[in-house]
Amino acid sequence: MKAKSDLGVILVTGASGGIGEAICRLLVNKGHRVIASARSLAKLENLADELGDALLPMALDVTDADAVANLVAALPQGFNEIDVLINNAGHDTGGRRRFDEGSAEQWCDIVETNVQGMIRVTHALIGGMLQRGRGHVINLGSIAGLKPYATGTAYVTSKYAVHGFSETLRLDYAGQGIRVTEIMPGLVRSGFARQRLGDAEQAREFYASFDASLQPEDVAATVAFALAQPLRVEVAQLVVLPV
Ligand SMILES: NC(=O)c1ccc[n+]([C@@H]2O[C@H](COP(=O)([O-])OP(=O)(O)OC[C@H]3O[C@@H](n4cnc5c(N)ncnc54)[C@H](OP(=O)(O)O)[C@@H]3O)[C@@H](O)[C@H]2O)c1
Repeated sequence: MKAKSDLGVILVTGASGGIGEAICRLLVNKGHRVIASARSLAKLENLADELGDALLPMALDVTDADAVANLVAALPQGFNEIDVLINNAGHDTGGRRRFDEGSAEQWCDIVETNVQGMIRVTHALIGGMLQRGRGHVINLGSIAGLKPYATGTAYVTSKYAVHGFSETLRLDYAGQGIRVTEIMPGLVRSGFARQRLGDAEQAREFYASFDASLQPEDVAATVAFALAQPLRVEVAQLVVLPV
């Protein structure tokens, strides 16, 4: 029998594939109650069929300000006190191109999802965490938030912003029972490159051009590590590289 969770409810954004899905699978298997959110509800429902009642699928576009502001009100009892938020939703659609070769709309959409989305969802949940005096916000940054690369303007900008947000949020809530962790992975084999490049073959070639990559499960394990620490321990940052 699975151990009963003492972490409370966990919300994962961008849970319909890749790292988010792996996080949901691992945390449910560890006995936690998880809300899996993304835009692709059918994929989340398949995950719920596989993982059972501990996983609640929820359609949520993190760029939809109204939906995010009302997300707690829309949740059923038993899932509406969220103590752990995993800000994972993100993309680089149209990326890996020189700045002038992509449209301003494309670049802004990356920031809208990766940065504004993270800020909106955190803002929607932080009040409840403060009231209960406990919470953990885990943000998916990237090594792109540590060192820029050519052809990554918007994505690099977004991940530097994730870094700044995480560092500052931690200062805002120091000593108030709210922990903030930033996870910064290197290359992970997921749906990310397909989404970025818009083509499965190009995505395969992209991953093949690197000697090594992480699996989504490797990143999920780092999330579980940060969550499992005693309350006196705040894992501030984890940089995770493939070898
Ligand atoms: N893959 C890598 O090499 C890598 C490395 C470092 C960091 N990361 C970061 O890790 C996170 C997850 O990436 P991944 O590799 O797992 O990519 P992925 O396989 O493409 O998954 C991305 C997830 O984000 C969701 N998403 C995109 N736009 C959304 C929106 N507006 N609202 C809600 N959900 C949205 C997608 O679901 P829907 O389309 O169903 O909404 C999907 O579930 C991202 O923040 C990424 O920047 C990835």
